[in-house]
Amino acid sequence: MPATSITSLRAAPCELIIDTDPGADDLVALLLAMASPDELSIRAITTVAGNVHLAKTSRNARLACEWGGREDIPVYAGAARPLVRAPVHAAELHGEEGLSGVTVHEPAKPLSQGNAVQYLIDTLGAAEPHSITLAMLGPQTNLALALIQRPEIAKGIKDVVVMGGAHFNGGNITPTAEFNIYADPHAAEVVLASGVRLTYLSLDLTHTLLTSDARLRQLAAIHNRASQVVVDILNAYIKHDMDVYGMPGGPVHDASVIAYLVKPELFSGRRVHLVVDSREGATFGQTIADWYGVLKRPANVMWVSQGDAQGLFDLLSERLARLR
Ligand code: BDR
Ligand code: CA
Repeated sequence: MPATSITSLRAAPCELIIDTDPGADDLVALLLAMASPDELSIRAITTVAGNVHLAKTSRNARLACEWGGREDIPVYAGAARPLVRAPVHAAELHGEEGLSGVTVHEPAKPLSQGNAVQYLIDTLGAAEPHSITLAMLGPQTNLALALIQRPEIAKGIKDVVVMGGAHFNGGNITPTAEFNIYADPHAAEVVLASGVRLTYLSLDLTHTLLTSDARLRQLAAIHNRASQVVVDILNAYIKHDMDVYGMPGGPVHDASVIAYLVKPELFSGRRVHLVVDSREGATFGQTIADWYGVLKRPANVMWVSQGDAQGLFDLLSERLARLR
């Protein structure tokens, strides 16, 4: 069974909430989303502890609004720790401040009043059926907490597009697990069990969508603040993965989720049955995708397996050029 290509017939911009733990690649994703208002109407950004502590991910999300010229987007802080497991962070990859390669400051834009989990409950609860898409760029703790408290809010959700998981080529935080799922596998299980429509962009995909010198030059040639921020962040961020995996460039994981929402025709995948392993042990946080359908269980996610790398960087360049 070949992977199927993904197309969209878009009438109006996608109503979007971005749940995120910025994070170097999250920051790139946020700028790409902010630069794509024809396709994405960003209702809010909700933050979660992940790559670094919540206070820093929340500050970095507000910095993204400043750098993207979108201080009108509300930012709500959410869960400061995972549902069950001990907190785990990735400062060695993203820097102590969560944004390698750039100098951070306290943005003028404040956090919005109220908690991200309550925001999700209120917004999804009041939404038209299947009207709101969530881009999940970090551990899925906020959405899981909302679904645990009010399971019926699932009906307001159109699609949950997750950066997370790894199947064919192993993990990036353990040999079997990808960071976002490992950082809160119980939350990923709650979301999976809720019955919402789910799309997964895993390391299988993001480790094929790599920077190169030419692609970084392409971004640098835009010569605006947003592109400079992205180039500075990426130059610092990609080193670790290039060293560890021996790859010719670095992945920009979370930006793939936004590219998928803006231009799904760049991607292809297959609907599969997915299981998340939350048992203690060597496979804690692993995602098992039944790619060949051997279990004959109903598919519960779209597993996006292939993408057009140059198409992604062309999209990023074209969109960043629209910012200041
Ligand atoms: C994911 O983990 C985080 O470190 C990145 O921001 C991305 O969301 C990649 O495994
Ligand atoms: Ca992230």
